Amino acid sequence: MRRVLVTGALGQIGSEIVPVLREKYGCENVVASDIRLMPGAGGEEPFELIDCTQHDQLQEVVRRLDIGTIYHLAALLSAVAEQKPHVAWDLNMSGLYGVLEVARRYRCKVFFPSSIGAFGPSTPRDQTPQVTIQRPTTMYGLTKVAGELLCDYYFQRFGVDTRSLRLPGIISFVAPPGGGTTDYAVDIFYQAIRYHHYTCFLRADTQLDMMYMPDMVRAVLELMEADGSKLINRNSYNVTAMNFTPDELAAEIRKHDPSFVIDYDPDPVRQGIADTWPRSIDDSAAQDEWNWQPRYDLASMTEDMLAKLRQKLRTVR
Ligand code: SER
Repeated sequence: MRRVLVTGALGQIGSEIVPVLREKYGCENVVASDIRLMPGAGGEEPFELIDCTQHDQLQEVVRRLDIGTIYHLAALLSAVAEQKPHVAWDLNMSGLYGVLEVARRYRCKVFFPSSIGAFGPSTPRDQTPQVTIQRPTTMYGLTKVAGELLCDYYFQRFGVDTRSLRLPGIISFVAPPGGGTTDYAVDIFYQAIRYHHYTCFLRADTQLDMMYMPDMVRAVLELMEADGSKLINRNSYNVTAMNFTPDELAAEIRKHDPSFVIDYDPDPVRQGIADTWPRSIDDSAAQDEWNWQPRYDLASMTEDMLAKLRQKLRTVR
């Protein structure tokens, strides 16, 4: 088989999707890449240093290793993109453009993660439809909308098999997320286990869509394996598993740890971003076109996160 390349492999999503892809396609067939060196790289697991804004680096690896599919996960998340809008534009846009160009030349299939950040203040905020107004006001959001359109362009114009998900906040315990607005829903678990206390950077009533990592990994793989002829909204699908507020998540954690306390100190930047995003999204197109169904809800995700993270942090309670 032609090999698989994952960019941003050391990030929150990459660190969990690479092992699953290796299990599925064979370790030697899945090349992890990042801008920094993977700890322990040089063993049997293929790893390449790639700065996605350097298109020649990307092309060299795709050609040399006969890459047939690219999971393009290298990007800045929403809050850090607001701090560094120029870097975000360069990495999120130029990185994707380079990936699509290489994919066109070498006939690769491409996965691109879009986001609930691709919506904005003029989007309907409840049960946000699949096709709706997308006028985000963040640099992150506008790179995601432009990314969706660029992926569609490469599909329609050049026949590149591009596929994409509008991901909600992703909750996981392996690698921490970096600089996202939804990251509170990960931080809260670390702080709950360590200190039984969390100061949240979003207001108590900020409702956002979320998904537990195992569901997200399955969503990506199922989309990539779906029959292409059935994908009407291929760039990009609304997907969700649950939506809740910080207050509701804290109440769920308290069922396992009655001493857990949450207080609030909203960060104007991240609160400002969250206030422009949907409170809930409608993912019926994903359900209809490739049978998307989440398995984890708030209760089962919280139970599993606490158990796995306690194990990871070696906290005996
Ligand atoms: N989790 C992302 C963020 O908060 C949303 O796509 O930036």
